[in-house]
Amino acid sequence: MSKNIDWQNLGFSYIKTDLRYRSHWKDGEWDAGVLTEDNCVHISEGSTALHYGQQCFEGLKAYRQRDGSVALFRPDQNAARMQASCERLLMPTISTEQFIAACVQVVKANLDYLPPYGTGGALYLRPYMIGVGDNLGVRTAPEFLFSVFCVPVGAYFKGGLTPANFIVSPYDRAAPHGTGAAKVGGNYAASLLPGHLAKERGFADAIYLDPQTHTKIEEVGAANFFAITQDDRFVTPQSPSILPSITKFSLLQLARERLGLEVEEGDIYIDQLDRYKEAGACGTAAVITPIGGIQYGDHFHVFYSETEVGPVTRRLYDELIGIQFGDIAAPEGWLVRVE
Ligand SMILES: Cc1ncc(COP(=O)(O)O)c(C=O)c1O
Repeated sequence: MSKNIDWQNLGFSYIKTDLRYRSHWKDGEWDAGVLTEDNCVHISEGSTALHYGQQCFEGLKAYRQRDGSVALFRPDQNAARMQASCERLLMPTISTEQFIAACVQVVKANLDYLPPYGTGGALYLRPYMIGVGDNLGVRTAPEFLFSVFCVPVGAYFKGGLTPANFIVSPYDRAAPHGTGAAKVGGNYAASLLPGHLAKERGFADAIYLDPQTHTKIEEVGAANFFAITQDDRFVTPQSPSILPSITKFSLLQLARERLGLEVEEGDIYIDQLDRYKEAGACGTAAVITPIGGIQYGDHFHVFYSETEVGPVTRRLYDELIGIQFGDIAAPEGWLVRVE
């Protein structure tokens, strides 16, 4: 049954879809899990997720392929990252098998919401885990809830492949030995004010520098950063306080194997941006957003152009979305068929 959705004008907003997966952890094990129509969660007021931020989440997409099938993009990588987030916050882990099976069930149960091939949209999946159950002190929760829901989405940053401008924030989203590499809500709570201040000044989002020295670029809003050097190397920051982006690792591989570029994970100093001719933000939601310019103090640095996407960024984008929508052959294991 068609849901009467305007596929061309989808944004990144909550839409209640039909069914979501829920599984409950108690006494050391997860139950089999169920699909439910109820989009509200009823939990104890003492839940650790409410007071101590004991929760983590993921974000991945299902794509309608050119051949009509449906595929998830690298869900095993999201499962692995969620396991790492869980371990950092002393939560039980979800096996890769249960994680992928839950995602597959949710996509199958909500196929009417999957944007058609050619619209550029996708079904965004949001797995999350929260500490629940009666509790008061700072300790790990007695019970946990793992859930996956989905929402049809279009492009995250408005304007698609038109460049966006960003501003360097004086704030940090994560501490040097904190939880930056885990996908936990606290990092995002810390980013709300810097993001708001950036948008108030007309920028797409905030750029975060490394929290230890404030000299190197780490993240771009809720996306990783990459840049192309004047001599065509693909460079992306490496730091224990950035979220290990699955899109970023995919681009590292594609840049090397398909575009023939040298790639490097290393330092990108905020006062040496002249070394780069193109830059971009990458992530599941952001896909690849070309970066027009970066405001740092009084200085505004423009990379390729404020209005045009650079040629290397364009090729990376075409390769990535070509793979995601099944137009171009995917590296082994990247696409997991749903039906
Ligand atoms: C802070 C942050 N960095 C980077 C990313 C990009 O990661 P991925 O490519 O796995 O979506 C995200 C989105 O998940 C994010 O929230």
